[in-house]
Amino acid sequence: MSAHVPGSAAVHVHVLSVHRHCRQQGKGSILLWRYLQYLRCLPGLRRALLPCEPFLVPFYRKAGFAQLGPSAVAVGTLRFLEMEYQLGGAAYARRNSGC
Ligand SMILES: CC(C)(COP(=O)(O)OP(=O)(O)OC[C@H]1O[C@@H](n2cnc3c(N)ncnc32)[C@H](O)[C@@H]1OP(=O)(O)O)[C@@H](O)C(=O)NCCC(=O)NCCS
Repeated sequence: MSAHVPGSAAVHVHVLSVHRHCRQQGKGSILLWRYLQYLRCLPGLRRALLPCEPFLVPFYRKAGFAQLGPSAVAVGTLRFLEMEYQLGGAAYARRNSGC
C-alpha cells in the first residue's frame, strides 16, 4: 500500500466506488469487469489484488476473485480480507481477443 514497485506482476486496486445514487444497478460489476479486461491486456501482469470488508466478499467472488485470507491492511479498527484475481499474464497469447 505504501510503495509503487515498477515492473511488478501484481496490480493493487485501491478503491472501487459507485456514487450512492447509482448503486445496485450493475454499474460496479461492469466497471470492475471492464477494468479487469483492460488489465488482462497488459503484458506481464499476473494478478490483481484488493483488500475488502467481509460483507463485500460475495461481490468480488462473483467477479472472479478468490479470498486469500486476512489482509495486512488496516484502517483504524477496520479489518480487511485480501482478494486476488488471476490475470494470466499472457496477453501475447490472446490474439484476436480485442487486446
Ligand atoms: C461496492 C460497490 C462498488 C458496488 O457497486 P454497485 O454498482 O452497487 O454494484 P452492482 O450493482 O454491480 O452489484 C451489486 C452487488 O453487490 C452487493 N453489494 C453492494 N454493496 C453491498 C453492501 N454494502 N453490502 C452487501 N452487499 C453489497 C449486492 O449484494 C449486489 O449483489 P447481487 O447482485 O447478488 O444482489 C458500491 O456499493 C460502492 O461504491 N460502495 C461504497 C464503496 C465501497 O465500499 N467500495 C469497496 C471498496 S473495496
